[in-house]
Amino acid sequence: MPIDPGDFKQGMRRLGASVCIITTRRPDGSRNGLTATAVCSLSADPPMLLACLNRSSNSFRPVVEAGVFAVNVLSLQDAATADQFAGARPAAEKFLVGDWGEGPTGAPILTTALAAFDCQVDKVVEAGTHGILLGLVHHVMLGDAAKAPLLYAAGAYGGFSAELAELLVS
Ligand SMILES: Cc1cc2nc3c(=O)[nH]c(=O)nc-3n(C[C@H](O)[C@H](O)[C@H](O)COP(=O)(O)O)c2cc1C
Repeated sequence: MPIDPGDFKQGMRRLGASVCIITTRRPDGSRNGLTATAVCSLSADPPMLLACLNRSSNSFRPVVEAGVFAVNVLSLQDAATADQFAGARPAAEKFLVGDWGEGPTGAPILTTALAAFDCQVDKVVEAGTHGILLGLVHHVMLGDAAKAPLLYAAGAYGGFSAELAELLVS
């Protein structure tokens, strides 16, 4: 049964999610990256995750060609960096915001991230407009666990509060 694409979009706006920046570095040293919420844990043994990238984004092809990518999980303090990587601007310009290092695969790691997963591409599954990247995690960088994660819902950034949830259920 056909559904209204507007309803689909409205429904998805209510699916709150953690904000990440997915990055890659090609052998020639060029870097690409984009802001993404379509990221999910997949397997603990072996450690794997998945990320869904629009195949028409400028970052998709470089990730597939490089065969490596990093998922940088953002904190509230990284909101400006999330904005920078969600905009249509040249890749090199994006990396002017944020403090960037690199993981063992060479993929760019945001040093202020809550966590970063440095991955090798295991498989790419094409589905609709997107490519589902299955990544084998080679290295995990753990940042400051005391920072609040950056969340996105209803078209806006926000934070997470365990204290608030506790007040509501008690
Ligand atoms: C909060 C948020 C979440 C996003 N999630 C995704 C996502 O999961 N996958 C995706 O392909 N694009 C996602 N986007 C859109 C890309 O960040 C955006 O299209 C970006 O400009 C693509 O950059 P590029 O063309 O340089 O790769 C998201 C944007 C925002 C603001």
